[in-house]
Amino acid sequence: MRKQIAAANWKMNLTLSQASDLLDEVLSKPRTLGKDQWVVFGVPFPYLPMAVEKIRGRANTAIAAQNCYTKKSGAYTGEVSVEMLKSVGVTHVIVGHSERREYFGESNAMLAEKLNLALESGLTPIFCCGEPLSIREAETQNAFVEKQLKESLYHLSSEQLLKIVIAYEPIWAIGTGKTASSAQAQEIQAYLRSALASQYGNEIANQVSILYGGSVKANNAVELFGCADVDGGLVGGASLNGVEFGAIIDGLKK
Ligand code: PGA
Repeated sequence: MRKQIAAANWKMNLTLSQASDLLDEVLSKPRTLGKDQWVVFGVPFPYLPMAVEKIRGRANTAIAAQNCYTKKSGAYTGEVSVEMLKSVGVTHVIVGHSERREYFGESNAMLAEKLNLALESGLTPIFCCGEPLSIREAETQNAFVEKQLKESLYHLSSEQLLKIVIAYEPIWAIGTGKTASSAQAQEIQAYLRSALASQYGNEIANQVSILYGGSVKANNAVELFGCADVDGGLVGGASLNGVEFGAIIDGLKK
């Protein structure tokens, strides 16, 4: 079975002590994750070492950075490299979140470079894709998102693709309280998997975890995660509440 993943994306929120308390709250609740179920916390850069310490020795739990840079090292003031992330024990990195694309001008080509570096260094990228409202209204979302995959992923080998997690996040559903219906999520995620299958074959495509993101909450997680091609969620707002995120983790497919 594909990995089922509940991934938190804290974005630019919380102080160090709040972040530490939130992790304690989520981690202290007794919970047995199935062998294919994973919890990932996407944490702001300064809190990564603290978060890595807190999950040390815990099964199926990982820490993700929310971004990395396109270069290995050098005179890029303020940027963070994949090697830096590796060196503090981070195992995952979110790449291409729509907020990075929109506010920081990250193009599909730049994201391809980030994926290459992340994979080279052994990090697991959580690659985000998804369409804006205008594209959804024009009903051209499938082609739009497929192009994002094509331009950032399709140069990868099958072995590399298997090391990536994809998060489909319709921009109109992010932070808006407006969730894609489970039928909408299933439809496009099945389409994306079929696009991956045309490129890499069915066997490979069937092993790639595709998460849904965009206003996932405790009260819609079970329905969304129940869809055949939805392998968990990337969760923003609701991941800042320990009880809520705990319930989302409990909603992962068994
Ligand atoms: P949201 O954010 O859950 O607050 O909609 C999701 C995301 O941006 O990853």
